[in-house]
Amino acid sequence: MLKKCAQVLAVAGLIIVGSSFCVSAAGEDVQPQIDAIKGALPKFAIPMREVGDRFQNIAFAAEGGNWGLAAYMGKYMNVALNPAQVTKPKEYADWKNFYEGGFAKVTKAIASENIENFRKEYNAVIPSCNECHVGMGYGFIKVVKLAAPADQGIEYKLASKAADVPK
Ligand code: HEC
Repeated sequence: MLKKCAQVLAVAGLIIVGSSFCVSAAGEDVQPQIDAIKGALPKFAIPMREVGDRFQNIAFAAEGGNWGLAAYMGKYMNVALNPAQVTKPKEYADWKNFYEGGFAKVTKAIASENIENFRKEYNAVIPSCNECHVGMGYGFIKVVKLAAPADQGIEYKLASKAADVPK
């Protein structure tokens, strides 16, 4: 009986030692791959192009009564920054504060489809975009309103409701 127990324990011991060896061997292989994937993810510059374009489009959608398009552009303006949660977590926190703070007034104006309020809040948020640029050392990137939407291939005057955007 004792001999059998000793055999079982010896096998169990081997499994434990063996499995920890496998984990560390796999760990050594996996980490560089994770680093490579992280390195290939966008930081701020690439998603900010999208933020800039979508932000411009929002105004034309709202003015055209296409509130669904305005809400959609606002939603994906935020989603565009998702990779920065992994690649630039500290700076992403500033973006989150901006989007859920100052920009939330624009989001609300779109949801309530109130053009007067929208114009006021939209214009008021532009200096906050630029304050962040200055704060992060990119003061030479100054957002200004375009005379035409950044993306021309969409009908901005198609009437729709903000609530039309699928969840
Ligand atoms: C959390 C800080 C932050 C906020 C808020 C922010 N930006 Fe940016 N933005 C940046 C940074 C940083 C860059 C430079 C990207 C880089 O090189 O890493 C940038 C770059 C840009 C660019 C240039 C992108 C390119 O390479 O062509 C545009 C356009 C832009 N932002 C638009 C906006 C607009 C519009 C808003 C407001 C709705 C805004 N940004 C709000 C941090 C911010």
